[in-house]
Amino acid sequence: MTAPGLANARVLVVGGAGFVGSNLVRRLLAEGAARITVVDNFLSADAANVPDDARVHLIRGSIADDAVLAALPDDLDFAWHLACYHGNQSSIADPLADHANNTITSLKLFNRLKDLPALRKVVYAAAGCAVAEKTYEEAVATSEDAPASLFQDSPYSISKLVGEMYGNYFFARHQLPFVKARFQNVYGPGEILGAGDWRGTPHTVWRNVTPSFIFRALHGEALPLDNAGETSRDFIYVDDIVRGLIACALLGEPGEAYNLATGREVTIRMLADLINRETGNAAAHDLKPARDWDKSGRRYGDPTKSRDRLGFETQVPLAEGVARTVAWTRENLAVIKACLNRHSGRMDLRAYLKA
Ligand SMILES: NC(=O)c1ccc[n+]([C@@H]2O[C@H](COP(=O)([O-])OP(=O)(O)OC[C@H]3O[C@@H](n4cnc5c(N)ncnc54)[C@H](O)[C@@H]3O)[C@@H](O)[C@H]2O)c1
Repeated sequence: MTAPGLANARVLVVGGAGFVGSNLVRRLLAEGAARITVVDNFLSADAANVPDDARVHLIRGSIADDAVLAALPDDLDFAWHLACYHGNQSSIADPLADHANNTITSLKLFNRLKDLPALRKVVYAAAGCAVAEKTYEEAVATSEDAPASLFQDSPYSISKLVGEMYGNYFFARHQLPFVKARFQNVYGPGEILGAGDWRGTPHTVWRNVTPSFIFRALHGEALPLDNAGETSRDFIYVDDIVRGLIACALLGEPGEAYNLATGREVTIRMLADLINRETGNAAAHDLKPARDWDKSGRRYGDPTKSRDRLGFETQVPLAEGVARTVAWTRENLAVIKACLNRHSGRMDLRAYLKA
């Protein structure tokens, strides 16, 4: 079914070659968008994720670059800002690179968008982790109005909050139609391990827990469970996030935040068990201590507001989402290994690259 309001729309997706961004771009094409301008500097993306379609106009460069900003069309209907410096560990390794690609980026983009006359909505990919309570005890679902601490675990997390604050400022001062989509942990097809440039740590390759576990499990490895797997997250399938991003654009109230969450708490051990079952991996888990920088033990998001105000509910259960992601990973091992190969001078990846 075509979402009303997107057919023939002229849209911008910043970070549109990335994992979530590329899934959004494909959905926007299917919804009949007239023109999709993608801005991406490929820091954590691979060209394989940019659809070959005449309606997609790729601007390869940083959204903090003045020439890139000047080249943006003035007649945009919708914009999604999904660029970031991926991810927490890389930002800890290089806080200035995080600033250049995760903080100044939001400021310069919103400052440019504030003058566009036809713009109906700017949706910002905000991070639920930045507002979640830091606890290893029983977690309470994080709601949109949860207080954000001034003590954050990483420059990444700070940048995600600063992006919200700049957007709020441009909304209040310049009526920028700014909506915050607060993500929980997204997983699914299109997250390519190793995509993009080396960003200072092996997390360049391993990215998030789900794709890393799937890839390791397909290679028969013991899955490494930080904090012995007792840490919990709220895992949301990428198609659901994309539906939520579109709902925020079409129905979101400017100035408001909406959680894109399942509302279900899943421990890392449960995720690992599920992935091992789906891939047929018999290796026992490798239990590890908690990561020293990560104070966020247990957390999940409260989906009530987005359900009540946007009519948004997730549709893909975790087991089904994991099965689809495993199938996608099996089918895309060649592109994943090509991306891994770019980092083989920095870390030993021979075990994965030989097959
Ligand atoms: N994936 C998750 O679980 C999750 C959770 C919370 C929030 N988010 C947010 O969602 C968004 C998308 O995340 P993702 O998982 O798709 O990550 P991703 O790394 O795949 O996508 C980020 C994209 O931004 C691009 N980029 C980086 N610097 C840029 C710059 N200066 N100019 C233009 N493009 C630039 C990267 O090349 C990449 O394509 C991010 O803003 C992220 O902070 C993601």
